[in-house]
Amino acid sequence: MLAGSFCASDFPAVTDQRILASVFRYLHSLNLLAKTGEDEYDLAIEGRMALKRNGAFLLLFSYRGYFENLAGMLSGHSEAAVDRRHNVLGSGALHSKKFFPAVWEMFKESTPAALIDVGCGDGQFLASACVEWSGIAVAAVDLSRIAVDTTLERLGTSGRSNVIGVVQDAASVGAWIAALPGELKARTPLVVSMWFVAHEFSGGEPQTVINFFRELRAILPDAEIILGEITALPPELLAKNCDISIMPEFLLFHELSAQGVLSWNEWHRVLAGIPYELARERLFDVLVESGEKIMPSSFIWHLKPR
Ligand SMILES: C[S@@+](CC[C@H](N)C(=O)[O-])C[C@H]1O[C@@H](n2cnc3c(N)ncnc32)[C@H](O)[C@@H]1O
Repeated sequence: MLAGSFCASDFPAVTDQRILASVFRYLHSLNLLAKTGEDEYDLAIEGRMALKRNGAFLLLFSYRGYFENLAGMLSGHSEAAVDRRHNVLGSGALHSKKFFPAVWEMFKESTPAALIDVGCGDGQFLASACVEWSGIAVAAVDLSRIAVDTTLERLGTSGRSNVIGVVQDAASVGAWIAALPGELKARTPLVVSMWFVAHEFSGGEPQTVINFFRELRAILPDAEIILGEITALPPELLAKNCDISIMPEFLLFHELSAQGVLSWNEWHRVLAGIPYELARERLFDVLVESGEKIMPSSFIWHLKPR
């Protein structure tokens, strides 16, 4: 639809074109499509604006439980608790193209010997790391048993059947580290990766994240960190950048599910308070105001112990 003029028969996956034709007529009546011929349409200005943000639809779908529950949540009749399984299981696929290549680049000169992925999700990062860094020993930690089982199954089918998986809250640093084999923890370089999990246990408090990293450093003093995170962006800045960003939907759902996404300033407070130095940084979807780059929507930090 974004490519130009179209009609129902241009969509081979649709088996009942009569239904698609009705949908097109409906969208035309809302002024989202403009008619260019008999049963032929193009996107109107508003339709083009909406579809340019099509990545956001995937996100709306993966968090759809919150939308279905929204009326109940507003009136206090239902809890904000929603089954986040779709979100857990789809997470890696969303990240692999956008974020992981930056990590391969960061570690080009010193390939990790062991990797602990905290908040392993569907195991996509560990699976990709096993391909990228052959010979690496890996371990998976997640609060969700479904996530750990999915990760171990995934690694098992690619010939890694002896991986240790720990079902544990990332915030209980001592507990998940104690559950991992000494042989793995003794390898160097040892890397702990954390993809979009710190905001899950931060409670919106930078100090909680600072305490987490201090404890981690005390127990695994040589471990390096890969931290992938999102930032809480001011709505007025998002309003000026919303066509390039899926952050409005992301932040809405994180707020509804009471996750503590930190602002860019707060992330810098964390950095100043932890016993790690910033070795490398990659910023994504940087918001711009009056031609000036202000802050990233998401980022990756490679942290080394100081
Ligand atoms: C965005 S996913 C991680 C994606 C994954 N590392 C990958 O391969 O891309 C975040 C994961 O963190 C997990 N999680 C959320 N809160 C957690 C906590 N407090 N402790 C451990 N894991 C947690 C979720 O279950 C989810 O699987």
